[in-house]
Amino acid sequence: MAMYDDLLERLARYDAAGFLPMHMPGHKRTALGGEELPWQLDITEIDGFDNLHEAEGILKDGMELAARLYGSARAFYLVNGSSGGILAAMAAAAPFGSRILMARGCHKSVYHAVELLHLEPFYLTPPVDPSFAVAASMPPEAVESALAQHPDVRLVVLTSPTYEGVISDIAAIAAVCHRRGVPLLVDEAHGAHLYFHPAFSGGAVTAGADLVIQSVHKTLPSLTQTALAHVQGELVDPQRLAHFLAVFQTSSPSYLLMGSIHRCLKLLEHQGQTLFDDYARNLQQLDRRLESLRHLRVLCHGADHCSRHSDFFAFDPGKLFIGTHGTDLTGPQLTALLRQRGIEPEMTAPQGVLAMTSCCDTAETLERLAAVLLEVDDLCHSVDTLGILPTPPLPPVRHTIAQARQLPAVSLPIPEAVGRTMAESLWIYPPGIPLVVPGEVLTGDIVQRLQQVTASGVQLHSDSGLAPQQVLVAETQ
Ligand SMILES: Cc1ncc(COP(=O)(O)O)c(C=O)c1O
Repeated sequence: MAMYDDLLERLARYDAAGFLPMHMPGHKRTALGGEELPWQLDITEIDGFDNLHEAEGILKDGMELAARLYGSARAFYLVNGSSGGILAAMAAAAPFGSRILMARGCHKSVYHAVELLHLEPFYLTPPVDPSFAVAASMPPEAVESALAQHPDVRLVVLTSPTYEGVISDIAAIAAVCHRRGVPLLVDEAHGAHLYFHPAFSGGAVTAGADLVIQSVHKTLPSLTQTALAHVQGELVDPQRLAHFLAVFQTSSPSYLLMGSIHRCLKLLEHQGQTLFDDYARNLQQLDRRLESLRHLRVLCHGADHCSRHSDFFAFDPGKLFIGTHGTDLTGPQLTALLRQRGIEPEMTAPQGVLAMTSCCDTAETLERLAAVLLEVDDLCHSVDTLGILPTPPLPPVRHTIAQARQLPAVSLPIPEAVGRTMAESLWIYPPGIPLVVPGEVLTGDIVQRLQQVTASGVQLHSDSGLAPQQVLVAETQ
């Protein structure tokens, strides 16, 4: 078969060649399952299309392109999002049953890895920004002192950028970790776009993290589920990562998804500069418009500047966290007003709403957002509110997550469960950050926070689906 360097193009050529598919998938490239889907491009590992888990051809080329573009030693396509990559990366870097250091605000996939690998985590809690109630950057000194306190830690896991766009000083944190020979894994699910323009910086690969996981689908033009794992340095064996990627991902990766990653990488390679020049310019124009907001405030945009947030190392200008604190609106009310005006935001918090932009936005789409925000701003009023909701202190831990999952559990109404050991996680989704995890004590402070969250109209989730009424707790302490 002729070599084409673009996977989607090769798939289209293959379809046109008219081979009789006496192999999977069972749809046989017919449209019986619905005219809307691109069945003709959906194949399995047939001759000429390489094999993700033993890549030697077009998939290997694409992954090498990813490593080149981002500057890593080796990159892997992920077809189960950053979630699958995080499981594999943690399994590759942290020995079973070992101790790790992780940001408390990590995504639930990190907690899932802690559970599966029977890890014992020590939590890092960054400062909370006093004006927007979002987690600030992780101070390198906090990582340094935690490592000094727990010298047997085998891995450090952080999120940068956060969902709201806050970036940590990964170069300094990596240096701290490397001085002790500990690998640093950065969950960069929200930061795959930080590498193509000076207006977007702070990428963890460039900063020297050992493992970096990026959801290509979150901030770049690529299909949902697509992501990348990068590995570099001497502390993590790429073959171990490859092994665990095969453990945690399907043995039948979708060529549509992989074709989408490949196309996205090629787009970045050939048109990245133009795309991101336009994007940066459009965001600057949006900022000028947002300077006129009188009540709502947008984190590090408009009248608010990153320099006002002394606990931020850097910020991703692609994220717009619209704070409602100090106005007569809650986050859910602002979301409702945006929806009524045809805008669906990314996430609703009790005191704010996250709107995410990408290089696929245009001057027009961002102007539409600005116009709606200014219109809604006119409708609301500044009021004295109770202030930023405090973050509850970390609860005491009675068991590891893995141990707690084995305990017989009962369900109780949440207020009656205070003081009991949790047998499940409670979290707000998005962003999917747990408020309490199995093995921890459900404290009065956490219950108060849960009540504030639900009262504000933001949805609370639990593994059992019983929240917000009931929770699963261990039968005995
Ligand atoms: C910080 C963070 N990490 C990881 C993930 C998981 O990413 P994916 O949806 O690509 O599996 C998410 C998803 O929301 C996230 O917010």
